[in-house]
Amino acid sequence: MRRQNRLKSLSWAAIALGMSYSAYSQTSLKSAYQKDFLIGTALGTSHIEERNETANQLIKREFNAITAENIMKSEVIHPEWNRYNFGLADKFVEYGQKNNMYIVGHTLVWHSQLPRFVSKINSPDSVRLFMTEHIKTVAGRYAGKINSWDVVNEALNEDGTLRKSVFLNKLGEGYLKEAFELVAKADPKAALYYNDYNIEQPAKRKGAIELIKKLQASGTKIDGVGIQGHWSINTLNLKVIEDAIVEFSQLGIKIAFTELDLTVLPNPWDLRGADVNQNFEGSPKMNPYTTGLPDSVQVTLAQKYEDLFKLFLKHKDKISRVTFWGVNDGHSWLNGFPIRGRTNYPLLFDREFKPKLAYKSVLELKAAK
Ligand code: XIL
Repeated sequence: MRRQNRLKSLSWAAIALGMSYSAYSQTSLKSAYQKDFLIGTALGTSHIEERNETANQLIKREFNAITAENIMKSEVIHPEWNRYNFGLADKFVEYGQKNNMYIVGHTLVWHSQLPRFVSKINSPDSVRLFMTEHIKTVAGRYAGKINSWDVVNEALNEDGTLRKSVFLNKLGEGYLKEAFELVAKADPKAALYYNDYNIEQPAKRKGAIELIKKLQASGTKIDGVGIQGHWSINTLNLKVIEDAIVEFSQLGIKIAFTELDLTVLPNPWDLRGADVNQNFEGSPKMNPYTTGLPDSVQVTLAQKYEDLFKLFLKHKDKISRVTFWGVNDGHSWLNGFPIRGRTNYPLLFDREFKPKLAYKSVLELKAAK
């Protein structure tokens, strides 16, 4: 009954969604959650270059942590053996410094978005040389300026075994320890995180715990685990997330939610079993909200975010940061993944940079206190 009432009031709020930003301008996500954990966002090139003043004002007002969405990935920052592109990364770090933000480096060792030359390397010694030089050069350049590094990204398979990346294949599982130690040496002050998606799920979580325990047992510094948090309003499982928070924190490390977004669109993998030959691109069934998000879905999204932040608040002593993967819906990578050309609504700000009902529900959790 209470839930129904709440639903009703949320629906009214959704109908009144012409909500202006000024209604909330007295407060912001970062100030509301100031005593709890950092609230971050991922910045793309246009944000770093401050091309859009509305976006820029919103970022500065709402967030106190930033992650580089793409420009610190090795294919961008280290495109050839002896060539580095530091231009945008330097600007990203300057942006964080001048706005007093917590700066997250993403990411040093990852099988994806690698420069092309790496896939052509054959000898283990050369892979080791690449990884060593890469970490020394990139982490070294920003030493003392980056607050936290996603040292290794996505090293695990869904069953918890180690992913057969070029790093595992050529260097063996010791590459994890090597990577963390290299970063600790290059930038002793940075907090070092292992980052991955789905590691809240039991099998993969078990693998992550094993990985972290091994690092700890060998005396390697690791400060936290990043749970990416690419979830869906249809399958969000709070119990699993809570179990993960509790279990990871028992390792004596912090938990960050590093890439939070909630897709509202159908998941192609759910349908794949039904028709493997189906072409999802351009299929209206897979892209139902091209002209706007129906109020009912807006309300569901707001409720899922509310439930999630309630859980985060319950465990705030274990959580260092919650970062959204993007500034607003128009910017989200989920418009292009896993199907290109869709219209998704996974974040707290809409395409016009206006706060959505979900923003209100996240904010009001604090106002109610
Ligand atoms: C994504 C970016 O958002 C996209 O712009 C890019 O095309 C692909 O990568 N896990 C990660 C992030 O760790 O780096 C990914 O970011 C999303 C999944």
